[in-house]
Parts: sequence; C-alpha cells; structure tokens
Amino acid sequence: MAIVNLFYMSLLLLLLLPLLLLFLLSIIIRPRPVQIPIKKRHVFITGGSSGIGLALAHQAASEGARISILSRSIDKLEEAKNAIRLSTGIDVAIFAADVRDFEAVQRAVDEAGPIDVLIVNQGVFVAQELEEQKLDEVRFIIDVNLMGSFNMIKATLPGMKRSRKDRGPGSISLMSSQAGQVGIYGYTAYSASKFGLRGLAEALQQEVIGDNIHVSLVFPPDTKTPGLVEENKRKPQLTSIIAASSSAMTADEVAKKALDGIKSGSFIIPCNSEGILLSMATAGLSPQRSYLMAFVEVVAAGILRFAALCFQWNLYGSIEKSRMQKNYR
Ligand SMILES: NC(=O)c1ccc[n+]([C@@H]2O[C@H](COP(=O)([O-])OP(=O)(O)OC[C@H]3O[C@@H](n4cnc5c(N)ncnc54)[C@H](OP(=O)(O)O)[C@@H]3O)[C@@H](O)[C@H]2O)c1
Repeated sequence: MAIVNLFYMSLLLLLLLPLLLLFLLSIIIRPRPVQIPIKKRHVFITGGSSGIGLALAHQAASEGARISILSRSIDKLEEAKNAIRLSTGIDVAIFAADVRDFEAVQRAVDEAGPIDVLIVNQGVFVAQELEEQKLDEVRFIIDVNLMGSFNMIKATLPGMKRSRKDRGPGSISLMSSQAGQVGIYGYTAYSASKFGLRGLAEALQQEVIGDNIHVSLVFPPDTKTPGLVEENKRKPQLTSIIAASSSAMTADEVAKKALDGIKSGSFIIPCNSEGILLSMATAGLSPQRSYLMAFVEVVAAGILRFAALCFQWNLYGSIEKSRMQKNYR
C-alpha cells in the first residue's frame, strides 16, 4: 500500500512541478507580451532595396503598411519602388543615404515622418580570415553594420518616443545573423559587428520599454540574396563548410519569419529549426516574452549545452581536417 501511495505521490509531483514552473514563468517573464500592428503604420526599412530588406518591404506593403526604404544607390531604390508598386499597387517612399553618415540619415528620417516600426536591416558581409583581411575592410563592416545601426536608432528614437501616446506600440528591430549568435571561422569582423547588435538590443530594450517601444533581433541563416552571391565569391572554403550546417533560406521566407516575429513582439527571432535550437542554446540572460518558450529554455538548458559542445567538437574537427589537408599539399 505504501509503495502504491509513493507511486501516486511521485506521479502527482511529476505533473505538478512542470505546471508550477509554467505558472511561475508566466508571472516573472519580462518584458510582458505585446502585439505590434503593421497595418496602416509607418514601417521604415534600411537596406530595403535588395535581398531580405526588399522582401520585407514587399510583405509589409502587402499587409497594408506605409513603407519607407533607405539605402545608398538611388537606381536600386527606384527599381525596388517600381517592383513593389507592380506587385502590391503601393507606392513606397525612397531615401538615398549611407547609414554611416548621421546627418544624411537624420535628414531622411525627418523627411519620412514619425516611424512606428524601424527595421535596421542594412548590412555588408565579407568573409575572410582576420590575418588576410585589411583593417580598412574590418572598419567598413563595423561602421555599416554596427555604427550605421546606432546612427539609424539615434535619428529615429526622439520622434518615435514623442509619437507613442497617439500611435500605439513602437518597434525597433535589428537584422543580425546566426554569425551573431556563434563566432564562425572567417567571420571575425562580421561576427563582431553582429554580436555588437545583441548588446545594443539588450541594453536598448531596457532604456525604451517605458516608452512602449519594443526591440527585436532577427537571426537569419545563409539567405539567397544578391549580398550572399557577392560574399560567396570570396568566402574561405572552411567558412562555407561550417555555414552549410544550416540550410540556406529564401529572402521571402526570412522576411516572413522576421515580420511575424516583429508583430508578436519577440525579442529574439530565429528563422528556421536550427535557428530555434541556436537561439535556445544562446539565450543566456536575454529577455523572453513567451512563458512557453521560457519553459522550454529552462527544461532544455542542460541538453542544449551538451549539443553546443558537440557542435564545437564538430567545428574544431573540420578546422583540424582542413589544416591537415593544407599541410599535406
Ligand atoms: N544573405 C544572408 O545570407 C544573410 C544571412 C544572415 C544575415 N544577413 C543580414 O541580413 C541583412 C540584409 O542582407 P542581404 O543578404 O539582404 O543583403 P543585400 O542583398 O546585399 O542587401 C543589402 C542592402 O543594404 C544596403 N546597404 C548596404 N550598405 C549600406 C550603407 N552603408 N548604407 C545604407 N544602405 C546600405 C544595400 O543597398 P546599397 O548597396 O544601395 O546601399 C542593400 O539595400 C544584412 O544585415 C545581413 O548582414 C544576411
């Protein structure tokens, strides 16, 4: 009888503990869940003339948003504007500016009018071993990807804050990369620029939460865009082998995941199943708005650390193999 009672007690405890954890998480998760509407709101996308940014502009326009896009080449912007008008019947506003130039960015933001959803998506990626890469190129990558993001946010924030009371929740999302979650061979400069975005986002979210502004970080894998085609021309072989462990997505697929994540106010937005695992394994001290995801993260933490160590074992295996092949030649 005592054994039967013990069995039922253990079963009850086994059921109660996860429920208790779920309940606790639903109380403590911060920031609280939020929905960010897109329809009839002003969505401003940097790097909106190509690849993921262009796909985001298409999708947000077809969901009824007012769109502004910014990038350097006026020809590419005009081309994007025509393509979006052709497929959605909507006219987007275009702004030619380099994100490295704060005054030019500020002029564009002022002209565009109050922004509800800012998507800082511009980015350059040149993969090369640090020893080979020129410092000018390292500076260029950091300037466009990281300083350019600061410039965009600094230019947008005052107007975004002012207009929050009448216009509902605001959103600032940053296009990172899976190379911004784990350092990858050949991406010292790029990974540094994208890891930097994470620190920016985590700190910024704390600074703007009181203004009803919500920050997101998008982590795409390799995505079939003009930028990737360019990058592949110079990519070290080992970088290609490592990056190939997560399969390439289309720009439309990434844009859909990104937009859905922004609308649901997620802080971290993975784009595919490997991305979900990577995001859980690298969750660290980052905010989590979903108590269900928080539950999975807490329960899976140990096994994910083990998986991360297996990933590193495999990664260093590839590096050793490649070095041995080089020495043999
Ligand atoms: N494609 C991938 O495999 C991949 C994977 C993970 C993350 N990402 C990230 O996703 C974002 C978009 O990448 P993508 O593949 O779509 O790139 P893409 O096709 O090369 O498009 C990049 C966009 O950024 C603009 N841009 C570049 N430098 C700029 C600058 N200094 N000032 C203003 N605009 C600038 C480009 O226009 P102009 O050249 O005319 O300025 C273009 O509109 C990037 O942040 C990238 O790091 C991409």
